[in-house]
Amino acid sequence: MKEKLLQEISSVKDMAMADIASVSDVSSAESCRVKYLGKRGLVTAILKSMKDVSSDERPIIGREVNVLKAMLEEKLGSLSTDLKKSRLERSIEKDKLDITLPGRALPAGRIHPLRSVFCEIVSIFTGLGFSVFEGPEIETDYYNFEALNVSEDHPARDMHDTFYVDDGRLLRTHTSPVQIHVMESRKPPIAGVFPGAVYRRDNDVSHSPMFYQVEGLMVDKNITMGDLKGVLSTFCHCMFGVGAGVRLRPSFFPFTEPSAEIDIRCVICSGKGCRVCKQTGWLEILGCGMVDPAVFEKVKLDPDEYSGFAFGMGVERIAMLKYMINDIRLFYENDMRFLEQF
Ligand code: DAH
Repeated sequence: MKEKLLQEISSVKDMAMADIASVSDVSSAESCRVKYLGKRGLVTAILKSMKDVSSDERPIIGREVNVLKAMLEEKLGSLSTDLKKSRLERSIEKDKLDITLPGRALPAGRIHPLRSVFCEIVSIFTGLGFSVFEGPEIETDYYNFEALNVSEDHPARDMHDTFYVDDGRLLRTHTSPVQIHVMESRKPPIAGVFPGAVYRRDNDVSHSPMFYQVEGLMVDKNITMGDLKGVLSTFCHCMFGVGAGVRLRPSFFPFTEPSAEIDIRCVICSGKGCRVCKQTGWLEILGCGMVDPAVFEKVKLDPDEYSGFAFGMGVERIAMLKYMINDIRLFYENDMRFLEQF
């Protein structure tokens, strides 16, 4: 027993020395430690077998194993410390940090061009004394059409290809229904703008199924077409520059009488005629008119006592003209190359 164990200790020692000599990195040092000193290691196994050794032989063998164990612990410990140190030195050398280099800038967010034009439109009107009101995006047929003098069989309904939600409810096709909510809930004088999203079954380079409008309404005694012209020309000059040419062109809307459209001189060709203004020299900006007496009657205001004007514009259209953008879809695609230009 004694001879056999001493023989084994000696061969384990030789094997360990050879293994240690071939250790080249931290992980092979660790596997080597496990192989000899781990729970199921070769040296540990010899220590475990000591219980079968007779008591007079035990001190001799015990000393031999313990010497081997201590030696391996010492050698592997210092080997692993050295290897860790040189690994660290190599990585410091490799990932040298040059603290004089400029830092990496985080990409800064910015306001979306559509939102910025939206806010600019609203703030021009609040600057003129208008208040801001919002209404629901899901409307009833009554608010979206009926109260605005667009009856069931009115041909103007065809202008708004509508998304229906369910029985009698729909996604509003314009922000004009907010006029009705506002006139139902407060007495004149009223000067308000109503910004928000609207929905139509439409999708091409200049139409999106969801887009934004800003509606406006001014109601009081003795409001005239002159007030409409003054307020809306001022708006155009703030938005497109004091030099912008502005004209009122007769039009038709069921909720205004008379109705008009406001055009500005073409921002692309300055009025000479081009593809964008379809050779007319003018660009349509918004619809407007004097509130139709039929609408006043729906909200129980006396058309003989009150008068007013209303207007509505598409935010995308204004933004496209302001920034000369030719495809409405660019606003919704979140392409950074587009957005970073603003
Ligand atoms: N609601 C109209 C549309 O979506 C725009 C409009 C035109 C609003 C004339 C008005 C107005 O208030 O008076 O096309």
